[in-house]
Amino acid sequence: MSAEIKDLKNLQNTEYGLKKLFPEAEDFLPLLGTDYVELYVGNAKQSAHFYKTAFGFQSEAYAGLETGVTDRVSYVLKQGKIRLVLTTTLEKGGEINAHIDKHGDGVKVVALWVDDATKAWEETTKRGAKSYLQPTTVEDENGTIVKSGIHTYGETVHVFIERKNYHGIFLPGYKKWESHYNPKPVGLKFIDHMVGNVGWDEMNKWCEFYGKVMGFAQIISFDDKDISTDYTALMSKVMSNGNGRIKFPINEPAEGKKKSQIEEYLDFYNGAGVQHVAVATDDIVATVSEMRNRGVEFLYVPENYYEDLIERVGEIDEDVDILKQHGILIDRDDEGYLLQLFTKPVVDRPTMFFEIIQRKGAQSFGKGNFKALFEAIEREQENRGTL
Ligand code: FE2
Repeated sequence: MSAEIKDLKNLQNTEYGLKKLFPEAEDFLPLLGTDYVELYVGNAKQSAHFYKTAFGFQSEAYAGLETGVTDRVSYVLKQGKIRLVLTTTLEKGGEINAHIDKHGDGVKVVALWVDDATKAWEETTKRGAKSYLQPTTVEDENGTIVKSGIHTYGETVHVFIERKNYHGIFLPGYKKWESHYNPKPVGLKFIDHMVGNVGWDEMNKWCEFYGKVMGFAQIISFDDKDISTDYTALMSKVMSNGNGRIKFPINEPAEGKKKSQIEEYLDFYNGAGVQHVAVATDDIVATVSEMRNRGVEFLYVPENYYEDLIERVGEIDEDVDILKQHGILIDRDDEGYLLQLFTKPVVDRPTMFFEIIQRKGAQSFGKGNFKALFEAIEREQENRGTL
C-alpha cells in the first residue's frame, strides 16, 4: 500500500489520523463539506431543465424577479447532498456576462460549508488569500446566514457559508421552487472530488495555495509518466482537507507530441477553471443506464479495454458484459476497487464535464484508467480538430 493512500485511509477513518496529518487544517479552517456549486450560464431556465431531465436533479429553490431579485436569476437543484446553482443575469454588461463571454457556461463558485464564515475569511486572507467577499450577514424571516469568500485559480472563487442560524430552503432571497415537472433522481449522492485545470507550471503554485492558505494536504501526485499517451500528457496532484470530505485534484498540461486535453480546456475556457465534478453513486450501472436513457453522452471506451480486465483488476462483483455495454472503467488499489465513467462536455465549449464514480473500497482516482480515458478524450479532440 502506498504511504499516501494509507494516509488518506487513516484520515477518513480515524480521528488520530486526521489530527496527525493535518493538525493545522483542523485548527484554522474546519470545513463541514461542499455547500453548493454555482455555474454562471447563458440561460439558467434551460440549463435547469437539462440538469433535471438528464441528471435527475430535483427542483429546490429559486431567486429572481418574483422573489425581489432584479439583476439575476438563480435556480437551485438538489440530488442527494449535491446542490447545484444555475445563475444568469437579467442585465447587459456586468460581471456575469463578462464571465460567460470569456468562459462560456462554467463553474464560478465552489461554496464550502463552515461553522464560522468570519473566521474562515480571516484565517485564509491572513495567509495570503485574495478576498472576494468580506464577511457579510444576510437574513430573512428564516434566520441568518453569514457568507464570505476568497479567490482561487482563474476567476473561480470559494464562498464560505455559515448556515447554523438559518432554516430556510437555501439562502435569504430564495423561495421554494415548486414545479410540476420532477423527473426521478438517478442515484447521485455527493461530490467525490472537483478538479481544476490550471496553466503551464501553475500546478505547484495552486497546490501550495491549498496547502498554505487553506490547510489542505497533498495526498496523491501523478506525473507525465503516469498520465500520458502517444500524444498528450498532464500532471496532477490531489489536495484534501482535514476530514477528507473536500478533495481538489489540480491538473496542469505537460509537453506531448500534440495538444493535451488540458491545453484544449485552457484555450476554450480562456484560463484556469473547474474541469470536472465527480459525483458518487452506490450503483453505477443503474445510474449510468438511466442517464444514457435521458440523453447524457458518455465517453466511448473501446471493447478491447475489457479483454484483460479481470487479469488487471481481479474479481469484481459486477458483470463485465454489462460494464462493457456502458463503457464503465474499473481500477483497483490496495483498498479495493472503483468504477468510473466520464460524460462528454456538458456545455458548448469542450470544457466542463462530469465523472460518475462508485467506490468499492478504493480511495484512489483511477490511475490505471488514465491511458484508456485519455485515448477516449483524444478521439473526441480529433473529431473537434483540436488535438
Ligand atoms: Fe476525477
